[in-house]
Amino acid sequence: MLAQALQQSTDAIWTKNLDGIGTSWNAGCERLYGFRADEAVGRPLRELHMRHLPEREYAAILARIRSGRPSQGESVRVAKDGRKVFISLVTAPLFDEGGELVGEISSSRDITELRSAQAEVEELNRELERRVAERTAEFETANRELEAFSYSVSHDLRAPLRSIDGFSGLLIERGAATLDDDSKGYLRRIRAAAQRMGMLIDDLLDLSRVTRSEIHRREVNLSELAGTVLANFAAEAPGRAVEVHIGPNLKSHADAGLVRVLLENLLGNAWKFTGKRADARIEFGRAMHDGQEAFFVRDNGAGFDMAYSKRLFGAFERLHAQTEFEGTGIGLATAQRIVQRHGGRIWAEGRIDRGATFFFVI
Ligand SMILES: Nc1ncnc2c1ncn2[C@@H]1O[C@H](COP(=O)(O)OP(=O)(O)OP(=O)(O)O)[C@@H](O)[C@H]1O
Ligand SMILES: [Mg+2]
Repeated sequence: MLAQALQQSTDAIWTKNLDGIGTSWNAGCERLYGFRADEAVGRPLRELHMRHLPEREYAAILARIRSGRPSQGESVRVAKDGRKVFISLVTAPLFDEGGELVGEISSSRDITELRSAQAEVEELNRELERRVAERTAEFETANRELEAFSYSVSHDLRAPLRSIDGFSGLLIERGAATLDDDSKGYLRRIRAAAQRMGMLIDDLLDLSRVTRSEIHRREVNLSELAGTVLANFAAEAPGRAVEVHIGPNLKSHADAGLVRVLLENLLGNAWKFTGKRADARIEFGRAMHDGQEAFFVRDNGAGFDMAYSKRLFGAFERLHAQTEFEGTGIGLATAQRIVQRHGGRIWAEGRIDRGATFFFVI
């Protein structure tokens, strides 16, 4: 009965003796491997569906049969027509009535389709990775070209600018006696404009440097850094009284040089936009925000309209008039690039006349 059950099983089931000679071969085997029972029984199975195996691998199989160890796993066999068949395989030792090891019984199931589906998924993944890598490379090249371009443009713009500035300066000096006041006024305005343009170019250069420089992360004490930066501002403006609060010992793993530029920009803004407050207050700390631990710079200065909170980070975007608070509008663009280069995020909250808070995660 057992023999009949084995014979009718849809699985491929066969037995072999200790020399690897086939002793039974069911219909499932015939279907899966294409060899008939009369071709398999009495023949070394090594010559049938295991004919592709390297010697070492077959030796290991023989050793297993002779050890009486059971096994389980996946393997590859070849059918009569040369087709590769992927199988899941279970083997168990066979004993005679006296309890002596006489061979092994194997039961296998075709997993070729499963395998090819897996292979397809793997292939698709590889293809996807390849495409992402390709696009990233393209993107990086374009980005580098753009940076190189803006760098050289900024650089080349400075030479003519220096001429305009220099020669209008000379004209003011030389023409002191001959030029009328209106003309001298125009010349001064030409000079001032040239100088302002020089500053814009300097800022652009700084921004492109931030994008180009490599990142070297190490532990940075942001609290100390914030203290130093604010002390420098205070030294330059002895007339101002600003209440400063710095959260103690806040550290991050970041590029020290870039983080300094970041804090200089954020604290610089806080310093500038509290300039008209008698009770100015600036705070640096760390807090949970949107479910994320973020550093923040908070002030009680001029604030801004939240409707424009995203625009602030664009280059040359300013919400305050030059006459009210001076600046070129490049500071926050720089700050954002620094944060992004660290894989982080920066965002802002504010209210007109109620101050502003800039959060960042790096
Ligand atoms: N702490 C702040 N309070 C109120 N508004 C701010 C604050 N920080 C930035 N802003 C707004 O965002 C704009 C852009 O800031 P950003 O630092 O880029 O430029 P800037 O300070 O005007 O010039 P720069 O930093 O290039 O000298 C500012 O002009 C201002 O309108
Ligand atoms: Mg600024």
